[in-house]
Amino acid sequence: MKTPMLAPSLLSADFSSLGNEIEKIEKNHGKVVHIDVMDGSFVPEITYGEPVIRSLRKLTTLPFDVHLMIEKPELHIESFAQAGADWITFHYEATAHAHRIIQMIHEKGLKAGVALCPGTPVSALSELLPCADIILVMTVNPGWGGQKLIPSCVDKIALLKKIREEKGYNYLISVDGGVNNDTLKSVVGAGTDVVVSGSSFFNGSLKWSY
Ligand code: DX5
Ligand code: ZN
Repeated sequence: MKTPMLAPSLLSADFSSLGNEIEKIEKNHGKVVHIDVMDGSFVPEITYGEPVIRSLRKLTTLPFDVHLMIEKPELHIESFAQAGADWITFHYEATAHAHRIIQMIHEKGLKAGVALCPGTPVSALSELLPCADIILVMTVNPGWGGQKLIPSCVDKIALLKKIREEKGYNYLISVDGGVNNDTLKSVVGAGTDVVVSGSSFFNGSLKWSY
């Protein structure tokens, strides 16, 4: 088994002290900073956007995994690239132009991720799997931290791993939502490469032993 990477999600951080929170990530096994961007349309909440990411960029050299929960992500690739994203992950469900967006992200020299809501099957991605760098399996419905993991979504991780082996694809498999000490083993066991964790990382309860 390859060692999975921990990607703490800033959504559950103390927004009044983001510098300290980034330090917490660096000191507690975080290898990637997961940054959730919500637009109040694709999902009901609104979080933060490019100016915040640009400021955070000065604080760390860890890669930024920007998870766009926004409609029409194609309109914002340029500005998130400028702001300092390393990985840009958009939702399959938020656009008619997923393939073109992967091309746009690659033209910026960045890693392209495609996220999948719980209601979307892996088969919907068949044309994207050969060119995506990351597939982000949502194990909760996107929009909020602190929800319970939906166990049936974990099967998608194993399926993506199997397809990758069979077809010789290269994407990383990432899991996002409801990962805590009770569920961590199951997502790692299924073959995830990147583990996103918001509430259980920032409330100090996640025990990372990889
Ligand atoms: C939810 C976000 C997640 C969120 C996960 O829509 O995409 O990244 O921060 O939070 P937890 O780990 O608390 O489920
Ligand atoms: Zn996320």
